[in-house]
Amino acid sequence: MTEGPFIRIFDTTLRDGEQAAGVNLNRDEKLRIAFQLAQMKVDIIEAGFPAASPGDFEAVRAIAEQVPGPVIAALARTRSADIDAAWGAIRAANRPRIHTFIATSPIHMEYKLRMTEEQVIDEVRRGVSHARSLVEDVEFSAEDASRSDPRFLARVFRTAVECGATTLNIPDTVGYAIPDEFEAFVRDVIALAGVAGVVWSVHCHNDLGLAVMNSIAAVRAGVRQVECTVNGLGERAGNTSLEEIVMILKTRSDAFPGGTGLDASKLCGVSGLVSRLTGFPVPPNKAIVGSNAFAHEAGIHQHGMLCNAKTYEIMRPEDVGASGSRLVLGKHSGKHAFAKHLEDTGFFLTTEQIAESFALFKDLCDRKESVTDADIESLVTNDVLGATTGRRVTLRSYLVQVGHGKGTATVTLEDEGVEKTDAATGNGPVDAAYSAIQRILGMEPELEQYSIKAVGEESDALGEARVILSIADSEGQVRLKAHGRGSSTDVIEASIKAYIDAINRLFRMAATKGAPHYAEIVG
Ligand code: KIV
Ligand code: ZN
Repeated sequence: MTEGPFIRIFDTTLRDGEQAAGVNLNRDEKLRIAFQLAQMKVDIIEAGFPAASPGDFEAVRAIAEQVPGPVIAALARTRSADIDAAWGAIRAANRPRIHTFIATSPIHMEYKLRMTEEQVIDEVRRGVSHARSLVEDVEFSAEDASRSDPRFLARVFRTAVECGATTLNIPDTVGYAIPDEFEAFVRDVIALAGVAGVVWSVHCHNDLGLAVMNSIAAVRAGVRQVECTVNGLGERAGNTSLEEIVMILKTRSDAFPGGTGLDASKLCGVSGLVSRLTGFPVPPNKAIVGSNAFAHEAGIHQHGMLCNAKTYEIMRPEDVGASGSRLVLGKHSGKHAFAKHLEDTGFFLTTEQIAESFALFKDLCDRKESVTDADIESLVTNDVLGATTGRRVTLRSYLVQVGHGKGTATVTLEDEGVEKTDAATGNGPVDAAYSAIQRILGMEPELEQYSIKAVGEESDALGEARVILSIADSEGQVRLKAHGRGSSTDVIEASIKAYIDAINRLFRMAATKGAPHYAEIVG
């Protein structure tokens, strides 16, 4: 592949993103986001607008002092007080940048600035020179550039470069541009300015839903820095979405060789963090990071996915840090995906039983808004297999002790009305508790999977444990398999509950008419 230009990712989630109506991040929240952006290897973090408020100043200063890696930029109007505030906030950074701006469109100059073109040029000269006297890395933005006269704009940019600007940014401040026009405009401005040794940049807003497209058009025209925000957060309808830009450049590296230096596998994690801290939910159908971005419901699509994921996925979920592809069972789903789901949840049915279950499932989909895994399990066990209630155990109490990496557990269960207690040792308290349960029940299912995660941010967050247990026949072939889930603020209790939940499912499956003859193993 031919070597292409490398595109720098300038993240402005903490500045333009935070300007979104209803978003208000405190210093610690901004720091958390900045650390994640640095881990994801964005090239530049615009940390805030220090002259805007003392809180903004403090947040930018904390980020400059503590977050290693990216260039840390602060925004400033061309006035001296703004530039001094920006410098005061970022001077501790390893690689500080002052980003100064002034508007250049006729409407902004006349009504907002009340300045003539010559006054704006003077202001650029003064502001950029002042910034450059403080720091080597200076970015200059011409606000509302896309509605400015290209010849005047080129003059403004030449002035900025003469005074020391190293990055020149062309914003589509009000999201008015359309891609082919904007590409030609950016090309013209770069040619008219005729400056060498600077990085051209673009900054697009999403008022017409074209921010990403316009940024891509500008890349085609020669810009090498894209300004964007996580989840497309920002003023009004937001900015160019970082995750979309990064994945367009990566997925279509045939059209855009060179890519970015970003670690895309962090995209979903950072998106989730920004969503939680800002309180702005990510729509399910949001490209790249939405919960449906890798979910398939139509039968034809699900069949294709089961044959080869590339039939309907142009990116792998793990490439963007998503948990995986999902085949969503609903009224559009096909029998292939339904049968696969049954197998995954431990049902080994005949062709006729699958057909009967599928018909009942479709019928339920027409009657119920959302059909859950539990609905399917109950439909198959009760209506198709005709389950009896089966043996059932419940947790009465447990006691664990740990020391030197070893654990001892004493567990009491109620097994069909009778209390039974036993104790065991193991590699840690959870392993010991599982051994004690096995001793009580006289069975040793295989623990195929175990995971625990915190649901919530604080130290008293709920722990949610998940297990998969299976039982094999004498030839080692798995015949019953069940998922179990348990939650508690105590992770050991959550783990024990998940194990017992899976055991009860195994009992229920074993007690069905169609189940393999494992009743003797599981009760
Ligand atoms: O939208 C805009 O023009 C801006 C500038 C300050 C870069 O946010
Ligand atoms: Zn903006």
